[in-house]
Amino acid sequence: MTLETLVITIDGPAGSGKGTIAQQVASELGWHILDSGSLYRLTAYSALKNACSLENIPELEKIARNLQVEFLPESGGVMRIILAGVDVSHEIRSESAGEAASKVASISEVREALLKRQRDFAREPGLVCDGRDMGTVVFPDAILKIYLTASAEVRAQRRLKQLKDHGLNANLAALIKEIQDRDHRDKTRVHAPLHPASDAIEIDSSELTIAEVVSRIRGLYESKVSIS
Ligand code: DC
Repeated sequence: MTLETLVITIDGPAGSGKGTIAQQVASELGWHILDSGSLYRLTAYSALKNACSLENIPELEKIARNLQVEFLPESGGVMRIILAGVDVSHEIRSESAGEAASKVASISEVREALLKRQRDFAREPGLVCDGRDMGTVVFPDAILKIYLTASAEVRAQRRLKQLKDHGLNANLAALIKEIQDRDHRDKTRVHAPLHPASDAIEIDSSELTIAEVVSRIRGLYESKVSIS
């Protein structure tokens, strides 16, 4: 990463819409994109595949350090994720990979092993990245830091809709509880807990459309560039 490479970070809790918004901002600006959560998911998925215990820290660190991963952009902002030559784009989105990812993400050795790899995504003309610690730890010098939130209720409703669209059923109250529990875990963990960077701008997306959030971020970026 050169000091001049422009980076926009979008951090926030699960279900706040970070991924979709980051993809859209990157595509409008013609910049690179980093979905940092996928690296934690890949580490966890790889460990489960290789019968590595999620308690085995030295082995998990090795897996994180040696991930052979390629991100292949497809049309419509979709990214295919290839791990050691195999397309695992769908597998790493499973509930079990997500649950395991949240465990490996709390291990400082794993976070350290993934740090340089994440910074290497910063290339010209710029990078939009989303996660939990993009603005606080990985890219502290980012030109624009967004902290995207939405109420637990709204996030649960979005998740319910996603599940229904996939023909699955779920209970709204249970989803709200799950989201609140996950927020609590993310915010209270010892290593790189989820919190806004001191210079982050908070956007509550509860009452906003995706297009409105994207346009607000573009506006904030334009004003940063014009005064820097
Ligand atoms: O955003 P996601 O659901 O794909 O993230 C998967 C897990 O990784 C989730 O438990 C949070 C964690 N994570 C993290 O600790 N730091 C990041 N920068 C991104 C994700």
